[in-house]
Amino acid sequence: MKAKKAVSLLMAAALAATMLTGCGGGRGTEEAAAPAETPADTPAAVEETAEGENTENTEPEKAAESSAAGGGIVGVALPWLGTQNWAEAEVMFKEQLEAAGYKAIIQAADQKVPQQQQQIESMIENGAQVIVVGPVDGSQLGSVLEKAKDAGVYVIGYDRLLENTTGVDGVVQFGSVKTGELQAQALLQGLKELKGEAPYNIELFGGGPADPNAPNFFTGAMSVLQPLIDDGTLVVVSGQTDFTQCATVDWDNSKAQSRMDAILAGNYSDIEIDGVLSPNDGIARAIITSCENAGQPIPVVSGLDAENESVEWVWSGRQYSTVAKPTDALVGQTVSIIDSLLSGNGMPATDVTANNGVIDVPIYELPPVVVTKDNAKEVFADDPDRMALLKD
Ligand code: BGC
Repeated sequence: MKAKKAVSLLMAAALAATMLTGCGGGRGTEEAAAPAETPADTPAAVEETAEGENTENTEPEKAAESSAAGGGIVGVALPWLGTQNWAEAEVMFKEQLEAAGYKAIIQAADQKVPQQQQQIESMIENGAQVIVVGPVDGSQLGSVLEKAKDAGVYVIGYDRLLENTTGVDGVVQFGSVKTGELQAQALLQGLKELKGEAPYNIELFGGGPADPNAPNFFTGAMSVLQPLIDDGTLVVVSGQTDFTQCATVDWDNSKAQSRMDAILAGNYSDIEIDGVLSPNDGIARAIITSCENAGQPIPVVSGLDAENESVEWVWSGRQYSTVAKPTDALVGQTVSIIDSLLSGNGMPATDVTANNGVIDVPIYELPPVVVTKDNAKEVFADDPDRMALLKD
């Protein structure tokens, strides 16, 4: 597994904030552990996980035995595979769940809510004891997740919050407001470094409005940018500063590129654009391509995900920054929670919660890290794949 050390550092940070208690919690422990179908090829690995992770487990003996003897079935419902983080999640969940002795059912929903609802239904029918969900739309899975809860299945939100449902036991993610703050700080730093004295002409982009992360990224970014828009340091020439105006439906890069084309044609025929807030790397590359096509000098553009192509662009100076949120760390954190659940120890304790409109959901948060050309070698020191992209 790549980035092993980075992962363990992140895990240590996360665990410091969310110390495992070994006490029960969550819901439906016995029910959840009971209907395990026994995958023939996994018992040894599960035994090791159950014993290693749960030495203090005394009470839910039945669940622990069931897990140790029979592994467990874990469903993973991903929203799409259109950005590198989700494609990595598909591979890494398979690797890490199987290595821990579970049978994994992994499906992606191509950004379609009904497809994702059906996939989760079928995971329940196929005996999943835990279902990990990265929702297409954070608020549209309420009834299928209630159904999972009634069937005694644990539900863990992955990377995105699950809203308006009691059918969620916890969410693992990178701080999304923090991510937006980092993106905006990097944008400001790049403007000062590369674009001379203020004022700076900028534009703002948000992610897919159905994704609960997208408004959070934007809120975090605007907490940094708004005071500077108010005092005239930053000028949003198009005047488009509301999330609804700036959002990119379905995180679709081509929609972002069309919006950038229109903004440039309508507002920048005789002035230069200095910077653009971008919510992720795919959209950043679309924005930069639009500016190049319009004959603009490349603006300072933020990003997210440390996608391979953007790591190369950051290294060559074409994209100013990205934010690393290592998928293997997030998957690892999720699998450690699954271990706790399926060995009868319930949800680990955490001090962080988020209200999802109905309940306060325990949040297991990992720290995102901003990346520019200056610190790229440091950030990716333990990630040989990304290090290989930083060619001198
Ligand atoms: C994830 C990002 C990703 C975006 C689009 C967000 O919820 O946090 O990593 O780029 O979805 O797939």
